[in-house]
Amino acid sequence: MLGLSTFARVLREVRDDVGAARDRDPAARTAGSVEILATWAGVQAILAHRVAHALHESGVPVVPRMLAHTSRLLTGVEIHPAARIGNDFFIDHGSGVVIGETVEIGRCVTVYQGVTLGGTGFARGKRHPTVEDNVTIGSGAKLLGPITVGHGAKVGANTVVIGDVPSNSTVVGNPGHTVRVEGRKVEGPDSDWIHLPDPVADSVRKLSERLGAVEARLEALDGERSSARVQELRPRRGPSTAGG
Ligand SMILES: CC(C)(COP(=O)(O)OP(=O)(O)OC[C@H]1O[C@@H](n2cnc3c(N)ncnc32)[C@H](O)[C@@H]1OP(=O)(O)O)[C@@H](O)C(=O)NCCC(=O)NCCS
Repeated sequence: MLGLSTFARVLREVRDDVGAARDRDPAARTAGSVEILATWAGVQAILAHRVAHALHESGVPVVPRMLAHTSRLLTGVEIHPAARIGNDFFIDHGSGVVIGETVEIGRCVTVYQGVTLGGTGFARGKRHPTVEDNVTIGSGAKLLGPITVGHGAKVGANTVVIGDVPSNSTVVGNPGHTVRVEGRKVEGPDSDWIHLPDPVADSVRKLSERLGAVEARLEALDGERSSARVQELRPRRGPSTAGG
């Protein structure tokens, strides 16, 4: 039943969620709690969910879904009232986040815009991801099915995850592959999942090399320098620019 203890719990959760926004969003460092509550869509979405979830747990019909629906209209974040979300949860920016009915999220988890924690089909029962403590999920990532994302893991932006993710690892790509564990590169013969062959880029590179050679010969023949130069194409390597 709904009671004072439920009310106190929801208040505590909301206070922690506002604190999470201040800790993890550089733009919120100097903002006051009222400003964050009034203008951070991700915080408003989790606030609405805390209330909807408490009502759902207490067996109140219809109202939790209406709250979730109104919250989606206002924030662009859709969270099923039954989803279990731990304290210190932070959704940065908000729009496009979908969190399904049987999702379980631990403490101190950060989710960016466009993340889906969804099912893979029409299965019933536990069909959505379980996300352990201290996980970060980059913008646009899709986590599908009853998988487990281990504590401290990082899921790169736009990654599609359809299998379990080890603790303290980094997973990137589509389908998602583990590229770091405990901060170290994954070793092994087939472990480079980042620099995958790109046949289209290879063809364009070969064409540009041939065009460059043809232009050089033309220049040598008629002594006229072409105004348009073919740029040499090089594969991109090095640190990611995706870090948020
Ligand atoms: C994955 C991420 C969390 C970084 O985690 P990390 O453990 O520090 O990993 P690194 O930065 O060392 O990257 C590991 C490798 O994966 C690659 N990588 C990183 N993010 C990637 C992504 N989203 N997709 C594909 N490859 C990616 C890096 O280039 C790097 O490759 P390298 O081994 O050739 O250097 C970060 O890149 C990311 O995607 N953050 C999400 C940020 C976000 O959504 N911001 C939105 C702000 S509005």
